[in-house]
Amino acid sequence: MLTDLTPQPPDKILRLMAMFRDDPRTDKIDLGVGVYKNAEGVTPVMRAVKAAERRLAEAQETKAYTNLSGDPAFCRAMRDLLLKDSVGEERVAIAATPGGTGAIRQGLELMRYADLAATAWFSSPTWPNHLTIARYLGVPMREYRYFDNATRDVEFDGMIEDLKGASSGDLVVLHGCCHNPTGANLTADQWETLAELLTKTGAIPFIDIAYQGFGDGLDEDAFGTRLLASQMPEMLIAASCSKNFGVYRERTGVLIAIAPDACSKPRVQDTLAFLNRQNFSFPPDHGARVVQMILDDPDLRADWQAELEDVRNGMLGLREQLASELRMRSNSERFDFITRHRGMFSRIGATPEQVLELRERHGIYMVGDSRINVAGLNSDTVPVLAQAIIDVGI
Ligand code: LMR
Repeated sequence: MLTDLTPQPPDKILRLMAMFRDDPRTDKIDLGVGVYKNAEGVTPVMRAVKAAERRLAEAQETKAYTNLSGDPAFCRAMRDLLLKDSVGEERVAIAATPGGTGAIRQGLELMRYADLAATAWFSSPTWPNHLTIARYLGVPMREYRYFDNATRDVEFDGMIEDLKGASSGDLVVLHGCCHNPTGANLTADQWETLAELLTKTGAIPFIDIAYQGFGDGLDEDAFGTRLLASQMPEMLIAASCSKNFGVYRERTGVLIAIAPDACSKPRVQDTLAFLNRQNFSFPPDHGARVVQMILDDPDLRADWQAELEDVRNGMLGLREQLASELRMRSNSERFDFITRHRGMFSRIGATPEQVLELRERHGIYMVGDSRINVAGLNSDTVPVLAQAIIDVGI
């Protein structure tokens, strides 16, 4: 059995992490994997997380199993954070999952379990793991246009045109905010148009929201999610706490399934629990417990929000600085899209050869499609990147 296994193609993002680690140059710059770093290049444990962990260590009396769907208080806190009052709780089924990736996986499992013939639609481009998970599960897949390489903005007309082809019951995977890998996002009007189209076709939105609070703010980043939740009869949401709580390795996330009515919710909730049981049984609890403590404690929550705001504003500042350095060096405004993009990422539009040259000649690491992690920069490295971008002729 094991000798017959075919070699796995390396995950592009994780391979880049290893290459960076092995590069002996001391002035190398890591703009690869989507992990927040402060100006010192450190991914800190957030203050509120440290405080909650200390309290938890004192207060927790048992590590016995929780629920198959995770700690109910965590699920409720996440529902409020994501959805506020956009949809009645009597329609919202929710299960904790191992991170946002676990939620994506469980969402696709749910779709396959419910309807083998349904197709999952993904933006072109999207986070590569979306595609590999769907392929692995044997889910029928289609792509819709999303990113305009010339303007580096959303190609909205093409997106709508393509999504007119989605059938009732198909799943349309959307990035709730801070699109990964491009950084280009829908406007409020575009979300409205999309909601109308989905209502017409009967396709079901599946929102992946992994960066709430990294774009324009916690509520602003949930705008599209809440709008769809208030209008769609059915909807799935995969949410991650990895980034906005900085609990990457704790694997903390939720899958939400909005049922068409209160009557069908218990069946949906039971199915989420069943699917958890089949894949990993009980979801991880430590990160979930910490997140719930922060969200439910006014002081911890205020401190978390303040730190998250600093993180968000830091990234916006780096975007402004990078665009301004590039304006100066290129004598043009052609890189101003960097200030319109939101979240950790921007796709800067380099060719694979230019990406390679940036890595080999300048020690600057980015994903092959020229996605940069803005949080990998600091005010000293921004001018270095700007000069290198000009040097390689982007
Ligand atoms: C990324 O896109 O870099 C992050 O979501 C980390 C990952 O697991 O790929």
